[in-house]
Amino acid sequence: MRIVCLISGGGTNLKALIDWQANDLLGGARIVAVISNTAAALGLERADNAEIPTKVLSHHDFPNRSAFDHALIEFIDTYEPDLIVLAGFMLVLSKDFVTHYDRRLINIHPSLLPKYKGLNTHKRALEAGDNYTGATVHWVTSEVDAGDIIRQVEVPIMGEDTEETLKARVLDAEHTLYPSVIRDLSLGLIEC
Ligand code: GRF
Repeated sequence: MRIVCLISGGGTNLKALIDWQANDLLGGARIVAVISNTAAALGLERADNAEIPTKVLSHHDFPNRSAFDHALIEFIDTYEPDLIVLAGFMLVLSKDFVTHYDRRLINIHPSLLPKYKGLNTHKRALEAGDNYTGATVHWVTSEVDAGDIIRQVEVPIMGEDTEETLKARVLDAEHTLYPSVIRDLSLGLIEC
């Protein structure tokens, strides 16, 4: 299974995928390219270190989002990917993009969807007084964070948690959840 990863920032989920791949734990899946919409994304360095081709494609260099999304499709498709993995990609993708990659596009979100779609998930879980939160891997559709859920993991919230400590605990869980879903997709254990 050929994977193209889209990132915008830290890339710790990307790092987890690279580590699983390096240890032959990704069910034969292979990251063939990493694309970022920001040049400063630390994830680009992680990909470089793993000798994975990288590309920066900034939406600021295009007249509008539609032009950007079409250029992104064109570039991604040169890699003939079976799966597009959003790993902290902070732009909302157009309907055209999402339709083009129907059932080939997945995302990881830091909450137990359908709870807390969108941003500031940890803050909202803390403010609501929840005892647990989690992370969700889902198919991407044109409605943000609303595509079919593939797998979720629960994470406890402790009394003394701050947004930062909770984010770290959830990220830690994401780093096993995302690679394990990709492994199972690659092994045909999850239906597309
Ligand atoms: C993660 O919390 C993920 O759930 C969300 O964006 C964050 C990306 O973190 N979609 P990283 O760039 O993988 O460190």
